[in-house]
Amino acid sequence: MSSRQTLADELSAARDRTLRLVAFDDAELRRQYDPLMSPLVWDLAHIGWQEELWLLREADPARPGLLTPDVERLYDAFQNPRATRVTLPLLPPADARTYCHTVRGKVLERLDALPDDADDFDFALVVSHENQHNETMLQALNLRSGAALLDAGGRLPPGRPGVAGTSVPVPGGPFVLGVDAVTEPHSLDNERRAHTVDIPGFRIGRVPVTNAEWQQFIDDGGYHRPQWWSDRGWEHRQQAGLTAPQFWNGGNLAGTRTRFGHVEEIPADEPVQHVTFFEAEAYAAWAGARLPTEIEWEKACAWDPALGRRRRYPWGSDAPSARLANLGGDALRPAPVGAYPDGASAYGVEQMLGDVWEWTTSPLRPWPGFTPMLYEQYSEPFFDGDYRVLRGGSWAVASSILRPSFRNWDHPIRRQIFSGVRLAWSQDDA
Ligand SMILES: [Fe+2]
Repeated sequence: MSSRQTLADELSAARDRTLRLVAFDDAELRRQYDPLMSPLVWDLAHIGWQEELWLLREADPARPGLLTPDVERLYDAFQNPRATRVTLPLLPPADARTYCHTVRGKVLERLDALPDDADDFDFALVVSHENQHNETMLQALNLRSGAALLDAGGRLPPGRPGVAGTSVPVPGGPFVLGVDAVTEPHSLDNERRAHTVDIPGFRIGRVPVTNAEWQQFIDDGGYHRPQWWSDRGWEHRQQAGLTAPQFWNGGNLAGTRTRFGHVEEIPADEPVQHVTFFEAEAYAAWAGARLPTEIEWEKACAWDPALGRRRRYPWGSDAPSARLANLGGDALRPAPVGAYPDGASAYGVEQMLGDVWEWTTSPLRPWPGFTPMLYEQYSEPFFDGDYRVLRGGSWAVASSILRPSFRNWDHPIRRQIFSGVRLAWSQDDA
């Protein structure tokens, strides 16, 4: 259980970030920057609506909704695909703000009245949901054309030379995968339950693959040689005309990239970002490696072999900080590789939390004993789909919602997300 004050602070931090991401004029908020994304004003009211459902109406089903049924229907993510949301008669931005503010006021009253020993999972779910939408809104703003609306804040630590391209061994043997309600009461349904699995030893990249390394793949004709690609990957590469990561102008490191409306040089030692699963897979094959499974990834991140138990974070139990990981979204970018030696896992793997989401080979599947949570459609509808799991969070993820067990997923062709690559090798090839 968190203290009521911690939850109030986390709710307030998430809301501050939401409001920074909609601090634009009405026309801007109604724009759809890309068919993959919603207009920002949809995210805003949707955040409020889910909060009303989970924290006000779930606890008191007789409570009348604050929106009329025909309006609240617009904010159901499953009924309204992203591409269509711009066509809906959405609440005007001022009304959406007022609505979110009203819901929050009532939610804080409920939080105030919560007994000390009460289950507070529903509040943590709302914190997670709002922060997850903030990352989606950042993806939308990154796709926007025109003069920059957001500037990077805060400084990132420098990288360390010599770490790119290196790897560390993770010996085989059993470890505890996943978490449970006792150790991580705010973990989401797909992270549970904790269970022991035994996997063979493997090697894993000490840090994510960098832009400079990716350029070598481009230089070697990697985008034009089907031998490195799966059949589906090659088909998609041709269809989509992929020749470099998204947002690289000119298609190579010597050019520029455009991010959040800023045109900038492409930093050689920064983790590569905005690649599809198919590109990640092809790069790994070209490099004589493969992508990790999500089980390997979680072991390398969380297991402490000396103590025979999980760590809460890769580095131990200290809460994430600017010394340990690049999280929270202010940087608007990943940190260079080697920037967080103090954030290394027990095996010496660095930058596992923050910076870029890392593609794994694993399709999203439930762990044994899976039970849907209050947000019943969070995971289950995606278990049999064509989704690959991404791990570790990006620079855009709030530290309050991230854990080594946190699972994200997307279609293998998506790359507007803040996705990157970490390599792995089976023991026999290591
Ligand atoms: Fe949502």
